[in-house]
Amino acid sequence: MIVSNNLKNVHSDLRGNLYMHALELEKQGGKILKLNTGNPAAFGFKMPESIRDRIVSDAEKALGYCDIRGREDARESIADYHRLNGLKNISEEDIFIGNGVSEVAYMIITALIGKTDEVLVPSPCYSLWTNFTFLAGGTVRYYQCDESNAWQPDVNSIKKSITKRTKALVLINPNNPTGALYSKEILLEIIDIARKNNLVIISDEIYDRLVLDEKEHVSTAALADDVTIVTMNGLSKSHCICGLRCGWLCISGLEKEKRVLRDALIKIASVRLCSNALMQLVIPDALKDSAYTKNMLGQDGRLLTQRNATTEELDKIDGISYVKNSAAFYLFPKIELEKYGLESDRDFAEQLLNQKHILVVPGSGFSCADNKHFRIVMLPEENELRRAVKDIGEFLRKR
Ligand SMILES: Cc1ncc(COP(=O)(O)O)c(C=O)c1O
Repeated sequence: MIVSNNLKNVHSDLRGNLYMHALELEKQGGKILKLNTGNPAAFGFKMPESIRDRIVSDAEKALGYCDIRGREDARESIADYHRLNGLKNISEEDIFIGNGVSEVAYMIITALIGKTDEVLVPSPCYSLWTNFTFLAGGTVRYYQCDESNAWQPDVNSIKKSITKRTKALVLINPNNPTGALYSKEILLEIIDIARKNNLVIISDEIYDRLVLDEKEHVSTAALADDVTIVTMNGLSKSHCICGLRCGWLCISGLEKEKRVLRDALIKIASVRLCSNALMQLVIPDALKDSAYTKNMLGQDGRLLTQRNATTEELDKIDGISYVKNSAAFYLFPKIELEKYGLESDRDFAEQLLNQKHILVVPGSGFSCADNKHFRIVMLPEENELRRAVKDIGEFLRKR
């Protein structure tokens, strides 16, 4: 059997070899603390009442296939949401709902990218974007995000990475794995580059409601209406329902370009009939329920408490530095490998798993080239997180 050549570079270190090894250790009786995926329900986060009620009361309404783009009421509420975030000239026609951002990411990359096309993605990068580019047969080019500048995209690196074949530029803001929130100034510079080079911007904003420390998220598409921008969003994280699969994309920009993209997406969407209709029913209520998400981020909210506990404990460890995340629930610390006789981020993650039964994803799993980082998912309860970070410190000290 010869499988597609496009699979050659596809990788998922979030559920790859280390994860498989963790499952093996569990089979042998060990308990593994899995800090490898941003899956709130796995750490006791419950779904909002608003969503539970709608699922129970309206399930019968979701038995048939619906519009290939998604139910109209859901798309209207999504368009309202993005208008509130400052997007102009958009309507429900510009929205496509899918089974998670993952599915609409596949759709937009399939619509745009063929064998000779290049996509600019950040390094570090959540692997969804690189993998779909590989699957489409396209080429990934990385631009650097600058740790010394709070992980903001390095605009010069973007400029240097553009070629005649570059078609799209992916932004992940707020970012996974760094938890960075991009400044308006940098977004404006990037939009200008896209404008001059005729690039489509794909702005993955799935964490836009999960912003900490009273900071504010700026949606890229709110800053320009003459550049084609595809904004990605969904309910997996803000409403802790990853498993229910609910995400969407919203196209903004000049009408002529939008029409071409809409037509392409309609072709792709029709191939798979429609996305899970039950989940579309919850969208209008969920988008009105901002209190649920805000409660996780406020003074006694779990996400803030857990982030602060993690950073307090990390501060006690010699040889680990980090940029405090401004959003989401990830931290991307750097380890002084030489100090501890470790060969690489992967060596660190493997040994940590074997010795302390803690599973983290090495930075190389996010295409971070220096091999010195790892990602922590700050979703367990405060005490469990404190214990885990203390264990990381002990693991290093004993080397
Ligand atoms: C940046 C980013 N985009 C997209 C996704 C996928 O989200 P969904 O559950 O909506 O497919 C994730 C999931 O972790 C993510 O971190």
